[in-house]
Amino acid sequence: MTNTLNALVHTLRYEAEATFSIELRPVDGGEFPAFEAGAHIDLHLPNGLVRSYSLLNDARERHRYVVAVLKDRASRGGSRYVHEQLRVGSVIKIGAPRNAFKLHEEAAHTVLVAGGIGITPLLCMARRLRSLGRSVELLYFARTRKHAAFIDDINALGIPVHWHFDEQAGGPPDIKALLASRAVKAQAHYYACGPAVMLDAFEKCCAELGYTQAHVERFSPVEVAAAKDACSTYTVHLQRSGRDIVVTPELSLLKALKAAGCNVPSSCEEGVCGACETQVLAGVPDHRDSVLSPAEKAASKSMMICVSGCKSESLTLDI
Ligand code: FES
Repeated sequence: MTNTLNALVHTLRYEAEATFSIELRPVDGGEFPAFEAGAHIDLHLPNGLVRSYSLLNDARERHRYVVAVLKDRASRGGSRYVHEQLRVGSVIKIGAPRNAFKLHEEAAHTVLVAGGIGITPLLCMARRLRSLGRSVELLYFARTRKHAAFIDDINALGIPVHWHFDEQAGGPPDIKALLASRAVKAQAHYYACGPAVMLDAFEKCCAELGYTQAHVERFSPVEVAAAKDACSTYTVHLQRSGRDIVVTPELSLLKALKAAGCNVPSSCEEGVCGACETQVLAGVPDHRDSVLSPAEKAASKSMMICVSGCKSESLTLDI
């Protein structure tokens, strides 16, 4: 469990069909911790649920955090609570910002690809790159124009935008053709956030086009089975405390560490938020998360201990 802050629900605003934005302010009128473009926060809702949402406002702002919530028809209670019960003036607990979707600000050119509510971290990135005077463009896909949030904010940025509304266009976008026709190709960094099917297509197209600098942020985990050579039982050496913990098939690595009394941060416990990222000092992790890129997984400098396992007899972690 990570440290929490108290936040006042200052404004709830209709942004698009079934989409609200929530502006949160510090209860004492002070400042929130600084954040980077791409970061998200956890909302600890009064109904006991914890949900992560990307920050969409300008990362230079310290007096507020702004997130947006789509009312999900398959809601397990999080977005429904926000839409039906959260009120202006409520005080809720939030987690400090974390960033599992880091922006490479030095890139010669950046292409942002948003699907529906996935615009939120990308809007923050677009604001940041614009403020730095960097070259950036946005591809924004939505079912219809009325489902597309923040149109006015995007237009005010003055960056090139390709809008695609399925209803108007008669179907979903041809992501590969759109990516292939960008003026600056292999040198660019590409970021996508949106529904899983869109992100799967984005990753596949980037791989086919040889765009190695592709980054995604997912709302829901990709199911990844354990590798064939994963060990069912292994030992984890904790470098800082010098302890050895044996992980058996009944418990995840995270749960085994918690059961042994280790105070390790976590949030989603599904491999999507990045809260449990832990430095790997030795050994071979079996990565099963939806946070690290293929290159980061290959480098294995860190791992998400909530879902990932181990392919070697032991792992040494920076804990
Ligand atoms: Fe969210 Fe591990 S707790 S990625």
